[in-house]
Amino acid sequence: MSKVITSKSNLDFSRSELASMPTPGKLFMVRPTYFSIDYVINPHMEGNIGNVDKEKAMNQWEQVRDAFKKTGVEVHELEGAPKLPDMVFCANQSLPYCDDEGTKEVIMSIMHSEHRKKEVPLVEEWYLEQGYQTHHLNYKKTSSFEGMGDAIWHRGKKLLWGGYGFRTSLDAYELISETFKTPVIALKLNHPEFYHLDTCFCILDDSTVLIYPDAFEKKGLELIHSLFDTVIEVPKDEALNQFACNATCPDAKHVVIQQGATVTNQKLRDSGFTVLETDTSEFLKSGGSVFCMKMMAW
Ligand code: ARG
Repeated sequence: MSKVITSKSNLDFSRSELASMPTPGKLFMVRPTYFSIDYVINPHMEGNIGNVDKEKAMNQWEQVRDAFKKTGVEVHELEGAPKLPDMVFCANQSLPYCDDEGTKEVIMSIMHSEHRKKEVPLVEEWYLEQGYQTHHLNYKKTSSFEGMGDAIWHRGKKLLWGGYGFRTSLDAYELISETFKTPVIALKLNHPEFYHLDTCFCILDDSTVLIYPDAFEKKGLELIHSLFDTVIEVPKDEALNQFACNATCPDAKHVVIQQGATVTNQKLRDSGFTVLETDTSEFLKSGGSVFCMKMMAW
C-alpha cells in the first residue's frame, strides 16, 4: 500500500511516531574525469557550454571529497564515463534504502533527460557489488524520477521527502512508497532554478532543515514546518548563487557547503553546526554543488 502526502490535511503522524532507519555510514562519488557542460537541461547551464576548467574542477572535487572524509564518513570513488558529462552528479541515478535488519535495497532512476539515461546502469553496478537488491520503476506508470536529487530520507527515520514538478513526476512517489513501504511527503517545486529538491531543502539532523522557502508552495511549507522543529531559511542570493541549500550534513554536526554563503553559515553556526566551506564553482555552472556530488549509502 502506498502513502503519499501532499498537504497537512492528510498528515496523520508526528515525527516521534515514525519507524527508525539506520543512518548511512558511507557515500560514493563519481570522479569528474569526463565532467563538462555539453548541453542545457537546467537554467544554470545556460551560457556555460564548453565553459568548464577541467583541472580546477578536479581539484574542487578532491576538496569536497576530503571535506566529507573529515566528517568521518567512508568515501568510495567511482570512475566516470566518456560522453556522460553529468555523471559526476551522482545524487541522481538512484535512491538507496536500508532497513533496521541491514537489508539493502535501491531504486534506480528514470532520468528526465535523454542525455543522462546511460548513467543509470553504470551506477547500478556499484550497488550490485555492494550486495543491494535493485528495483526498477515501471516506466509505464511514471515518466521520471531523479533519485536522491529529489528524494531525501529524513535523518534516522523511515520517511521520505520527495520533490516533484521538474525532474521527477508525482506518480513516481506512489511506486516508491509501495516498493520501500514508506510514507512519502511530496513537495511541489515552483521555480526552474530550484529544479531538484536538493537545491532548496537540506536535512541537517532529525529536527533541523535548511530551506529556500520561495521554492515551495504554501502547502509544502506547512508540511515542512509540521515535521521539523527548526527551519533555517536561506536568503535568495545565497540559495541561487552559492547553492547554499545544496549542502550535506553526513553526521548531524558538520555541514559541507559551497563557500561564501555568509548569512547561511552564521545561521548554521548559531544552531550549533560546524561549517566546512568548499569551492564548487565549476560545478555550480552546471547547476550542482556539494549535495549533488555524492550519494549517501549503507
Ligand atoms: N547538470 C546536471 C543536471 O541538470 C546537474 C544535476 C545536479 N544534481 C542535483 N542533484 N541537483 O542534471
